[in-house]
Amino acid sequence: MSTLAIIGGTGLTTLKGLRLARSETVTTPYGEPSGPIGIGEMAGREVLFLSRHGAAHTIPPHKVNYRANLWALQRCGAEQVIAVNAVGGIRADMTPGRLVVPHQIIDYTHSRVNTFFEEGLTHVTHIDFTNPYCESLRTELLAAAVASDLEVIGEGVYAATQGPRLESAAEINRLERDGCDLVGMTGMPEAALARELGLCYACLAVVANMGAGRGDEALTMEMIERTLVGGMADVRRLLEQVIPALPA
Ligand code: HPA
Repeated sequence: MSTLAIIGGTGLTTLKGLRLARSETVTTPYGEPSGPIGIGEMAGREVLFLSRHGAAHTIPPHKVNYRANLWALQRCGAEQVIAVNAVGGIRADMTPGRLVVPHQIIDYTHSRVNTFFEEGLTHVTHIDFTNPYCESLRTELLAAAVASDLEVIGEGVYAATQGPRLESAAEINRLERDGCDLVGMTGMPEAALARELGLCYACLAVVANMGAGRGDEALTMEMIERTLVGGMADVRRLLEQVIPALPA
C-alpha cells in the first residue's frame, strides 16, 4: 500500500483526526528531523505525520532540517507527501483563509542545504523539476475539494522566500512582477528534496495573510495564527476526503 505522509506547518503542529498508534524517532545520515514521526490511522488509512517546525513550533523555516525530515518519512514508508504550508497571498483572490494547491515554484531561498546529491556521487545528478509538484496528487487534492464542497484554488506560483522575516512591500511587488501568486518560507528546498527521493509530493497552502503592503491589518504572528485556525479546519476536511481516495 502506498503510504501518505503529511507535513504540518504553522498552525498544524498536531493533526486532529489522526488516531496515533505510535511515534518513531528516526536517526538519519543528515541529522535530526524536526521530531518523531507520528504513525496512525486517519480516514481508514495509515498516515504518517511530522510537524515541520517541531511539536512546540520552535524551528524557524531556515533552520528546518528538510533533508532529515524527508529521509525519515521515506524510511517510515512514505511514498506520497502532502505538505501543508502557511502562506501570504499576493494574487487578489488569495485572501486569508483560502486554500491553494500551487502548480509552480520560484525559489528565492539561499544558504539552505538543498540537495541529497552532493557527496559520494558516481556521476552528477540533475533532477527534472519542470513540474515541481506531483500532478497525480494535485489532481486528487482538487477532486477531494470538489467532493467536500470546499473552494480550493487549483493553481498558483509559490514564491519560496528565505525568512524568517516577512517581506517588504517592494519585495511583494517584485514577486508579483515575477509571476508569483503566493509566498511562503518553507516550500523549498522541501519540494526539490522530495523529488530527489522519488516521493510524490504536493503542497496544500493555506493563506494566513495578504502579502506585505496588500492588507489592512498589521502582520503579526498573532494575526497569522488566528487566521490559520479556520483554514486548518478546512485542511482537515480536505485531508479526510482525499486520504481514502488515494490509490492503494
Ligand atoms: N510571507 C512569507 N511567509 C509567510 C507569510 C508571508 O506573508 N505568511 C505566512 N507565511
